[in-house]
Amino acid sequence: MAALGRLNNKVGLITGAARGIGAGIAQAMAEQGATLYLCDLNIDGASAVAKNIGATAVALNVTSEADWAALADRIKREHGRLDILVHNAGTEIVNSVEQQSSEDVRRVLSVNLEGPMSGCRIMLPLLSAAGKRGAWASVINISSVAALVGQSNLSAYSVSKAAIAHMSKVLAVEWANQGHAIRVNTIYPGCIRTPMLEDTVAGWVREGVFEEASAWDVMKNLCPMKRIGEVSDIAMGAVFLASDESKFMTGTSLTIDGGWMAS
Ligand SMILES: NC(=O)c1ccc[n+]([C@@H]2O[C@H](COP(=O)([O-])OP(=O)(O)OC[C@H]3O[C@@H](n4cnc5c(N)ncnc54)[C@H](O)[C@@H]3O)[C@@H](O)[C@H]2O)c1
Repeated sequence: MAALGRLNNKVGLITGAARGIGAGIAQAMAEQGATLYLCDLNIDGASAVAKNIGATAVALNVTSEADWAALADRIKREHGRLDILVHNAGTEIVNSVEQQSSEDVRRVLSVNLEGPMSGCRIMLPLLSAAGKRGAWASVINISSVAALVGQSNLSAYSVSKAAIAHMSKVLAVEWANQGHAIRVNTIYPGCIRTPMLEDTVAGWVREGVFEEASAWDVMKNLCPMKRIGEVSDIAMGAVFLASDESKFMTGTSLTIDGGWMAS
């Protein structure tokens, strides 16, 4: 069993924490002692997760600068700093480029890229305040292996995920150099069993691309370990990047994909 308390005395914020990977990260970080704000469009879902782990649920749309600003004011009042910021909320559209409208593309980029950029900008004073206490603050951006390889029918999503990963590198350099003490790293998940992945499989079945069992087999066979990942596989990577155990890591990437990108 992993040691507990790796995130004691750290204040963290996780977006998209109502379900899936975000809820898994929230649970793992709470177990390690973090004080957490769980943010989501789905406040009922976030509240249910928060209640289980003793965290605070907040209704926040990552595309709303007003929501980010209101939360920054609250965290400033309640803690005066933010040690951990996880940009996990995401959305995907699965269709070919010729079926995608500009509106579809804008929606994906707005949630997956502009949202985290607003969050980073608006939370910067609080992250900086955390870094000045000694241990560097940690920003974790959840990208996807879709940013690393070309996959059909995922153009807007893949581009948004490549962009957020590159944003991590830029901010890692900026925020190590401008008097801040903020680390910024990226996680690239492979196929992880969550409602988002279940929706993707349901779409394939609806369109007659695969039967349900074969759809899951296709997903499993993408990686040499031949299984679908669990949210805890990603959550423990996030705990490591948030903890001081990774204190010399910034601008780097953690691929958690059962070996898919190695094959
Ligand atoms: N599941 C996978 O296989 C997989 C693989 C690679 C990357 N990812 C990435 O991991 C992250 C989490 O994915 P998941 O599978 O848990 O997804 P999910 O759809 O199960 O959960 C996403 C959560 O984000 C919230 N959300 C969506 N838009 C929001 C917004 N505008 N503001 C606030 N909250 C919002 C949703 O309400 C939901 O609770 C996403 O960024 C996704 O792209 C997932």
